[in-house]
Order: sequence, then structure tokens, then C-alpha cells
Amino acid sequence: MRRLVVGNWKMNGMASDLGALGPVYEAAAPRGAAEVAICPPATLIAALAGAAAGRIWVGGQDCHAAAKGAHTGEISAPMLIDAGARRVILGHSERRRDRAEDDAAIGAKIAAAQAAGLGVILCVGETEAERDAGRTGDVVAAQFRAALAAAGPVDPARLDLAYEPVWAIGTGRVPAMADIAAVHALLAREIAGAFGAAGQGVRILYGGSVTGANAAEIFAVPGVGGALVGGASLKPEEFARIIRAA
Ligand code: 13P
Repeated sequence: MRRLVVGNWKMNGMASDLGALGPVYEAAAPRGAAEVAICPPATLIAALAGAAAGRIWVGGQDCHAAAKGAHTGEISAPMLIDAGARRVILGHSERRRDRAEDDAAIGAKIAAAQAAGLGVILCVGETEAERDAGRTGDVVAAQFRAALAAAGPVDPARLDLAYEPVWAIGTGRVPAMADIAAVHALLAREIAGAFGAAGQGVRILYGGSVTGANAAEIFAVPGVGGALVGGASLKPEEFARIIRAA
């Protein structure tokens, strides 16, 4: 399966940064290279989609559950499509934390995103306290099941997962490779349980302090179908190195 490498710029990036993405386009160009997406802040989606001209995917970092309406400050899935996005990150731990997004809200967004034609990258991951309590597997399985149950019918052809341990995000800390393998295997079983054979194309990305230096080791872990990259995706040369490692 072709790997998927996604850069999540979070609340970073100005129009002046888009001209520096040459190394990213180059790394994504060879036949057989990983699929690459950048999810910039919404202000840059249209500009990046224009500049990228199909060389990489462009995605959103969130969307509203409604297609339009009186929701000041929000952005809908059809608007993301209209701006040139083809994918959207949903359920990121920063939104679960900062915006109190629960599984029901995330499920509604999954339904809205797929109805609009977006590919969904659904994030799951345990906190440090949950890990220390030995609850990692239970937590990520419950997040996956609850979001899917709230979404209603989900098309696995337009779904990828990202396993992002909350304590590994932006900290420079990465789980033991055996722990990544175990969680990815568990999520693969969850996907098979939910979708059967139709779920075979659902990739499970790893996210949390992925860098140019550790990407190759992480991609060598069985079951890792790509990476969701925060900080390192802001540095085009380093993001290109991660893409080449994939
Ligand atoms: P970092 O790569 O900065 O740890 O962020 C990971 C992340 O949250 C990507 O969505």
C-alpha cells in the first residue's frame, strides 16, 4: 500500500512560506513516492492548492458538521472542497482538548466530510496518564468505535487513521517501536472488524514528534502506513526527508 505523509501546519504559516515548498514537491514527484498532503491553516488552502497544482494533496485541519449556516468563524466541508482541499484531519487531540470535541461531534464531522467528498484522516491517541494506567489500547479502540458509531455509514475508501499519542506531540518523545507496532496492530483489527475486506486500504499513520532523523525507523514498524507530521512539516527540507524515508 502506498504510504501517506501528511504535514499538519496547525496555526502556523503565511502566504510567504508557500514559495519554499520546492523540496517537498521534488520529494513527492518520483513514481512510487509516498502520497503527500499538507494541511495548512484555512487561510492558505486555496493559495497552496493553486501553487501545488496537483503535485501534493491539500487538506483542512477541521470542518464543521453542517454544510452551511449561521456558525460564525466556522468552515464547512463543501467550503474546503471549494477551496481546493481533498482531505481533512478530524479529531486531532488539540481540538479534543482546546475545543472539547467529543466522539459524537467528531463522528458528525466525519459524515459531513465524506458527504462533501473529502478523505478523512481520523486521529486517535492516549494521554500520558492513560498510557501510564495501561489503558492505551482501550482508549484508542474506544475513540475509533465511538467516532464511527456517531458518523453512521462511513466509506473506508475515504478514510485513513492517525495514531497520535498525546504525550508524543511536540515533545520530542516517541513511543518504543514495539508499542507503535502493538497499537497499529490493534487499530488494524478494529478496522477489519468495522469494514471487513473493504477496510484493507485504510492506512494507519503514526504521528507525534516524527522528524527527518527518526522517520525511517518509524516507517520500518509493521503496520505504519504513513505519518502525520507537525513541527517538522514546517521545515521543507526536513519534511522532504520524511517523504523520502516513506
Ligand atoms: P509534532 O510532529 O509537532 O509532534 O505534531 C504531531 C501532530 O500533532 C500532527 O498532527
